[in-house]
Amino acid sequence: MLQIIPDASLRQLNTFGIEARAKVLFIYDSEESLLEALTHIHTTYAQLPLLHIGDGSNLLFLNDYEGVVLKSQIKGINVIRETDDEIFVEVGAGETCDEFIDYAIQQGWYGMENLSLIPSQIGAAAVQNIGAYGVEVCDVIEEVKGICLADGKEHAWQAKDCRYGYRESIFKEELWCRYAITHVTFRLNKIFTPKLQYGGLVRAIEDAGLSEKTLTANELRDVIINIRRTKLPDPAEQGNAGSFFKNPIVSASKAEALQKEFPAMPSYPAQEGKVKLAAGWLIEQVGWKGKSLGAAAVHDRQALVLVNKGGATGQDIYRLCQAVRNAVSERFGIMLETEVNLL
Ligand code: EPU
Repeated sequence: MLQIIPDASLRQLNTFGIEARAKVLFIYDSEESLLEALTHIHTTYAQLPLLHIGDGSNLLFLNDYEGVVLKSQIKGINVIRETDDEIFVEVGAGETCDEFIDYAIQQGWYGMENLSLIPSQIGAAAVQNIGAYGVEVCDVIEEVKGICLADGKEHAWQAKDCRYGYRESIFKEELWCRYAITHVTFRLNKIFTPKLQYGGLVRAIEDAGLSEKTLTANELRDVIINIRRTKLPDPAEQGNAGSFFKNPIVSASKAEALQKEFPAMPSYPAQEGKVKLAAGWLIEQVGWKGKSLGAAAVHDRQALVLVNKGGATGQDIYRLCQAVRNAVSERFGIMLETEVNLL
């Protein structure tokens, strides 16, 4: 079924809860209804820009969106093949990521436990390469299928062709808004091997009275959910989009110089000998943690997260974003990049 909503409010469709309007919103639940939407768009709205959204958990509307917004409700979880150790499961792009993770664990399909509770649809997860606690979704993606918004043709990408990096993919770069992702195939394990290398995870397991040796996937999921609930604001209670900024990746020499000046600064090895720094720590050091600018605030338990205290506009959040970036840049000589897509 296809829903067509002219002059649509996007307030319920972005987790910041920002009021913004789109010229028209199309919500589809199958490849057929997506093709129907595209025919309509190409005849009636051919001149307007197109934006495809997921759960709206990683975007900020700075203004009304003077274009067409597409949203998927394609559902379905289908096992395509399996071996003794692995199972390949194709999931509709409109499924909720966390519901799928829960379902997978109950089926005995493992590998996504550390991504529990991240707000995202499956399709958007493959675009954004969501990640948490030492796992990125690209670690378990086998294939991504999509439909070209210009000509309606199907296309499939193997994971290696998606150019996955830290919160990066081909879909965020040259293919941005050129394809609607319809399905993602995951390669999951039938044997549970917990990934606990992320700092603090083993300690959180012990604090929960659990043992690393006998840990089950359900227990690990509960520990992750608990950490997230303690640190991160629930978008249902306070509008936010998770980490607003990416953790910056700097050269080894830059990291070394900063380390000399700020010995307590957290840092992590990144690709090509570079070093990843903790943007939350940098923001806390410049004094913005818990501070507000109008109706926008830096979260008081995790400085990487900007929140809507109620009634904030996209511009209010953006002003705060710029104030934080400028302060970090002045003190540390690092210009933070946003993880959230600004529209
Ligand atoms: N830190 C501070 N002050 C803060 C926040 C963090 O000093 O206000 C320090 C922490 O003490 C720690 C370090 O910074 O030493 C890292 O903090 P944390 O473990 O909370 O993770 P993060 O780097 O701030 C990233 C992801 C999160 C993900 C967590 C756990 C990014 C941009 N963010 O945050 O992802 O949940 O790691 O893996 O990579 C998201 O993308 O929306 C998101 C929430």
